[in-house]
Amino acid sequence: MIDRLLQLRQATEEAVRKVNDIEALNEIKVKVLGRKGELTNLLRGLKDLSGESKVEAGKTANDIKNILENMIEEKASDIKTREMERKLLEERIDVSLPGLPLQTGGLHPISRVTREIQNIFIGMGFAVAEGPEIESDYYNFAALNVPKDHPARDMQDTFYISEDILLRTHTSPVQVRTMEKVAPQIPVKIIVPGKVYRKDDDATHSPMFNQVEGLVIDEHITFGDLKGTLMMFAHQIFGEDVKVRYRPSFFPFTEPSAEMDISCVICKGDGCRVCSHTGWLEILGAGMVHPQVLINGGYDPEKVSGFAFGMGIERIAMLKYGINDLRLFFDNDKRFLTQF
Ligand code: FA5
Ligand code: MG
Repeated sequence: MIDRLLQLRQATEEAVRKVNDIEALNEIKVKVLGRKGELTNLLRGLKDLSGESKVEAGKTANDIKNILENMIEEKASDIKTREMERKLLEERIDVSLPGLPLQTGGLHPISRVTREIQNIFIGMGFAVAEGPEIESDYYNFAALNVPKDHPARDMQDTFYISEDILLRTHTSPVQVRTMEKVAPQIPVKIIVPGKVYRKDDDATHSPMFNQVEGLVIDEHITFGDLKGTLMMFAHQIFGEDVKVRYRPSFFPFTEPSAEMDISCVICKGDGCRVCSHTGWLEILGAGMVHPQVLINGGYDPEKVSGFAFGMGIERIAMLKYGINDLRLFFDNDKRFLTQF
């Protein structure tokens, strides 16, 4: 009996030493210590022994049972520890690896140029005013000397919400809106950035675009003030080398009226595709405020005079950055936008 017990102990110890996973270890445990296991079977044979040998065999069997149980338990915790170490090694994180780049937003090029234009005029003492994009026929046209059926309306055809309500075609309606608020105070010195809408659609004309209006009213304002202000602006935004010229033009709300060109920033005036080989680019319309518009706003044209201008922001951004299609500004293509 004792021999068989010792044999079983040796065989089991060997098997446990060799085993490497929990399942196989459990199998051994069941095979030896289980209810129908080998050791249990041997113990059943005890009842056939007697006296001294029964006591001795019983004690040995108990000792071996404890030894094997301990051994299996130790081995189990061994396997578990090794398993854990392996997992930790496998799932190790290298904290020294560089992280993923964070996507950061940026200002849209039109917002950038708008701010730059604003800052230049703020530097010359202008205040920033605003007006609604949904405008009445009165402020957009009638108050600016453009009665219904005036041919000038054709050039600024727009989107009508009703007979009298429309999407503004320019920022000029804010001229009379501002005058009504502050008249007869002087001086008035504002710029008005904002979105405007027209029935236009090509490489240099968008149905929605941005303008900056300017309005100055005071005593003794002359065309010289207009020229000086806009010359200073052109030099600040395009550089001191840029040349400026005025061409006579017509707007019903200014008299006289002019359009301002700058020497082409692409070819420096030699002539290229961007300036249609003229060496010049139109950037804004301007003029002396028409006496009737001053009256509509609550000012006395015998006492004050003023000048006004309106420029397209996309055009200025195109010239500044050398962009040949203004629709790029509105496509939301990140490959384009991230260049600014
Ligand atoms: C006007 O809108 C006048 N209100 C400007 C003005 C203000 C004159 C005050 C006198 C006194 P005009 O239609 O020319 O004028 O437009 C002014 C500028 O807006 C143009 O020089 C051009 O730069 C830009 N522009 C006009 N139409 C579009 C368009 N569809 N897309 C992009 N820019 C445009
Ligand atoms: Mg024009």
